[in-house]
Amino acid sequence: MKKHVVLLAAAVLALSALAAFAATDALVGACIYKFDDTFMTGVRNAMKTQMDKEGGELEIVDSQNRQPTQNDQVDAYISKGANALIVNPVDRTAAQPLMEKAKAEGLPIVFVNREPYEEVMKAYDKIWYVGAKAEESGTQSGQIIVDYFKKNPKADKNGDGKIQYIMIRGEQGHQDATLRTEYSLKAIKDGGFEVVELGNDTANWDKVQATDKMKGFISAVGVDNIEAVLANNDDMALGAIEALKAEGYNMGDPAKYVPVVGVDATAPALEAMSKGELLGTVLNDADNQGFAAVKVAVVAADDKPVTEESIGYKITDGKYIWIPYRPVTVENYKEFMK
Ligand code: GAL
Ligand code: CA
Repeated sequence: MKKHVVLLAAAVLALSALAAFAATDALVGACIYKFDDTFMTGVRNAMKTQMDKEGGELEIVDSQNRQPTQNDQVDAYISKGANALIVNPVDRTAAQPLMEKAKAEGLPIVFVNREPYEEVMKAYDKIWYVGAKAEESGTQSGQIIVDYFKKNPKADKNGDGKIQYIMIRGEQGHQDATLRTEYSLKAIKDGGFEVVELGNDTANWDKVQATDKMKGFISAVGVDNIEAVLANNDDMALGAIEALKAEGYNMGDPAKYVPVVGVDATAPALEAMSKGELLGTVLNDADNQGFAAVKVAVVAADDKPVTEESIGYKITDGKYIWIPYRPVTVENYKEFMK
């Protein structure tokens, strides 16, 4: 017994020595466009988890949805000697000055979730982007609607062979909003359905705004005439569902149901799927986006080459780490519950 304890203690010592040897002492400074965002909170938590493994220091600040605030935060990280930056820009079209600040210092900079323009990505050798192909999520969410209408011909409530839909978009100018909107509709058309738009507006990724917008659509067109709701993310899908529930819809009566799809596969969305309120979503893999961003930042901060071997993720064109989306349906949603 005693011998076992001694052996165990020796093993623990040896392991921690090894960990100390492998650990980085890099300071990584991260800015998140705003903390009050469900999906980005998942990414943020994954970043912390990964840095705990790496052994370096990660600071994360809330840019409070203001680009000037974020610019100041980047300056502050530079003056305190950060070894790498991770930036989730407030405005992806304003990434250039941030890249230039990093470039002036030779600091690695990893953008996440909001993709800078290509010319910005090309203008520096220590810049990377970790994100997901928005087209993919659009296609997958549209496909969930197609499958539902093929399985449930009565979902075409007015029997005109077309799908009368409401689109609730994310933030204007965000690649995920533009491409999810476009590709979800394309998937429905490619799936053999004509579509008729009953309403289309932005709710800025926000649940409360989506409830308001959806209430407006319901009073304008009548809840019975809506055959599908496509939301660019889960918070907005859940917001739309609140408005439907206020009309007695999506509460278990099959005669009062509108299929709603979102994107992200957040915990509340999976919960809503388990209750039959939300038809489906698409996994936007917050964990792997957060892990990969920290991996790249640490490897680059330690002045090691960023390669597929050193970060453990596939790299496209030397700078892009694309994390795949996955459709989440009633058949597989339990797999994604934590
Ligand atoms: C999207 C995500 C949204 C929101 C947005 C923030 O990828 O689906 O829920 O988090 O990023 O930029
Ligand atoms: Ca119809």
